[in-house]
Amino acid sequence: MSADPAFSGEVRRAAEWVRSHLAAAGLQAELVETGGPPIVYAESAPVPGAPIALVYGHYDVQPPDPLDEWVTPPFEPTIRDGKIFARGATDDKGQMLTHVASIASWLETSGRLPLQVKLLIEGEEEVGSEHLGNFLRANADRLACDCVVISDTSQFAPGVPAITYGLRGIAYFELRLSGPKQDLHSGVFGGGVANPANALAKMLGALIDEQGRVTIPGFYDDVLPLSERERAEFAALPFDEGAFRRQLGVDSLAGEAGFTTIERRWARPTLDINGLTSGYQGQGAKTVLPARASAKFSCRLVPNQDPQRVAAALRRRLEELLPAGIRLELVEHHGAPGIIMPLESPYLQAAAAAVEKGFGRRPVFIREGGSIPVVNTFAAVLDADVLLLGWGQNDDNPHSPNEKFSLDDYHRGIRASAALWQQLAAITEPLK
Ligand code: BES
Ligand code: ZN
Repeated sequence: MSADPAFSGEVRRAAEWVRSHLAAAGLQAELVETGGPPIVYAESAPVPGAPIALVYGHYDVQPPDPLDEWVTPPFEPTIRDGKIFARGATDDKGQMLTHVASIASWLETSGRLPLQVKLLIEGEEEVGSEHLGNFLRANADRLACDCVVISDTSQFAPGVPAITYGLRGIAYFELRLSGPKQDLHSGVFGGGVANPANALAKMLGALIDEQGRVTIPGFYDDVLPLSERERAEFAALPFDEGAFRRQLGVDSLAGEAGFTTIERRWARPTLDINGLTSGYQGQGAKTVLPARASAKFSCRLVPNQDPQRVAAALRRRLEELLPAGIRLELVEHHGAPGIIMPLESPYLQAAAAAVEKGFGRRPVFIREGGSIPVVNTFAAVLDADVLLLGWGQNDDNPHSPNEKFSLDDYHRGIRASAALWQQLAAITEPLK
């Protein structure tokens, strides 16, 4: 996992594994040092007159905890019921490997690919791709391509494959509050001094109102509104709220008033707490007034919102909310803007045909709520169309215990990928 530096050796081992598999498939493959986890880069032979596709994926994963909720250990991949269970099964090792497998089979059966493929598999997507932007800018010539292919999203539902044309961005924060110089007896001192845990709960609570709206002044100023056409298209998708509730184990859904569940997840900004720490967490009861309290939380952003503007506005709001007797430190972790992409691209049409060949059904076009930080940089630096072709399912448990990937989806993904190279190669006049 890339979040915890203690595992950097394991992350590097994963990079080497990917490099050796690309080399075994017959590609020139190398590790590129960036200051963070290495980038794995590989190329197939140039094919004059055909477009160039750049495959992007990531070999890093999110931390596996809570470990005791895994049926089989997260780093011992296990097949049950036609699905492979492991951290990274769908996000993104398994999905990324579909392209490696399709390239390997093209080379094995035809001796060559119908177009040039470049592969860039990185190891810090799950922590914001800090070093990748510089690498892209410094190597724009070498990475030149007509389209970028990414399989790190999901299908809309089982049997309903999808191409994703929009993602949310993110701004991730850590708020640290401190009060008295050490933990205190809550009976002796409670009532006489500000409690950082109470302050944290109050401040975080004040960031979202009763309507589910974020109360940071200016937060919604730049939000790209949903068009009536998109709202109609989302509403026409076969989405079953009851099944979604049951999947999550809740009796009702929640979020910003005035928007449907799909709209709230794909096209509206949010603020969610990701972790809370303060006071006594052991067995039984301890009457303590903690000296510190902290929270990790993040905003999902939509196109046109700027992570840095959001961070500055949040900082002002927190300073306003800070009670007397408490000190504040706000750490800004990673940030990335959201994106929405045009649907007119010939590469997208080629991808739709390939998805149909692999999955037996034409894909629907959707937006999704997750983030892939580097997508904007690809579009801007390489001036290439980005194709988000997700083979996963919504209940594959990415970032959760018992992450999985169906072997059928894996094989369908490989077939779609193999067909994609053919479909893209048929675009004989690359746009550049
Ligand atoms: N594969 C996900 C993104 C994703 C998941 C997009 C499902 C659409 C549907 C990606 O690996 C991811 O989780 N990204 C992080 C990025 C963040 C840490 C900067 C995310 O969205 O939390
Ligand atoms: Zn992820």
